[in-house]
Amino acid sequence: MAWRVASLRSSRDGDERPDSRDRDLLDRLDRELGVRLFTDVKHTTTWPNPLTRCCKYDNSVHMFTETLTQRVLRSPLVDLLTGPHGVDRYTELVAPTWTQRDARATVVAVRRQTPRSVTLTLEPNQAFTGFRAGQHINLTVEIDGRRRTRPYSPASAEGSPYIELTIGHHDGGLVSTYLNHHARPGMVVGLDSVGGDFVMPTARPRRVLFVSGGSGITPVMSMLRTMRAEGSDREVAFIHYARSAQEACYAGELGAMSGVRVLHGYTRDGQGDLEGYFGPDHLAAAMPEPDAVFVCGPQALVEAVRTHYPQALAESFVPPVFTPSAESGGRIAFTDSGVELTDDGRPLLEQAEDSGLTPESGCRMGICGSCTRRKSSGVVKNLITGTVSSSEAEDVRICVSAPVGDVDIAL
Ligand code: FES
Repeated sequence: MAWRVASLRSSRDGDERPDSRDRDLLDRLDRELGVRLFTDVKHTTTWPNPLTRCCKYDNSVHMFTETLTQRVLRSPLVDLLTGPHGVDRYTELVAPTWTQRDARATVVAVRRQTPRSVTLTLEPNQAFTGFRAGQHINLTVEIDGRRRTRPYSPASAEGSPYIELTIGHHDGGLVSTYLNHHARPGMVVGLDSVGGDFVMPTARPRRVLFVSGGSGITPVMSMLRTMRAEGSDREVAFIHYARSAQEACYAGELGAMSGVRVLHGYTRDGQGDLEGYFGPDHLAAAMPEPDAVFVCGPQALVEAVRTHYPQALAESFVPPVFTPSAESGGRIAFTDSGVELTDDGRPLLEQAEDSGLTPESGCRMGICGSCTRRKSSGVVKNLITGTVSSSEAEDVRICVSAPVGDVDIAL
């Protein structure tokens, strides 16, 4: 496959003709797939998409079209030709985002709305299949040679061609600190997966109240932007809490929105529209008796909103404080590494790290799934929900799971 990669690279770099092996492959693709990798078009054709490029060949212009490229690169034949690594391991040599199966994005803009956050605009590649407003994306960056994954909720509208992330700088936060200090246009990040059920119903509620605290503003901002992009005529109110006016993200954009009642609460300097923390007076000031409330922020804010509006759909991105379960005294066997220890009641991830292992992890709160490991035997308890697993073999999120007796984990 090396010759093919060289050919792809050279065809991006200049006006080289396909050699005879290229021609053989093209002919074979033509016969077996019913498509040609190269298509003749007029000189004047311009193609705005970065996955499409043009080069002169025999007084005509040859180009990759996205559709053809995708069909070809995802074909079983190309899969076979590029085995065992897969076509992405070759095409990424040409451009890091030129992958068919691995969703990635290029940072195209970096701006700072507040001193303690950074806002990134990402252009995803063709492998990214989108998200629903309110969901999170597992973002992967490489820091000191290790891939680190963290979930972030986009603030951009559902269906937007660009993804906007606003990432708060959390003291001690490895990925947030790295992105706040090092993110720059041209940087490529992984988009490992999309998840979360913090989403609006398809039939939009008639009167909607959004409540957010700190960096929890991003998923509700995405919901609000989505509704506006839809041309929604729903009644909307928005309460946002920040420590001070200087730390309030999106204040300018929210303030300029017509038809949205926006109230700010500044918990440190008290200079906002609302005083103190969320309570019935804040609810009354924003929107008495809403049809739906969406809240994202620290756990205390979520609980305060639910005290007054129990049906509120909520998401909290602040790691929960685990109360260790009772020490089971059971034997934990990390079977891949041969490490064995006695359970002390903490999550399996913490116990593995303290024994010198370095399992992959992300959110450390059971959301992103990056710590998932196979439990081949034994029972574990989810420290957030209290759910006890079966003794069957299954995948468990070791950041929120503690043993109940002996367990074997593939790690
Ligand atoms: S680290 Fe995210 S689910 Fe465990």
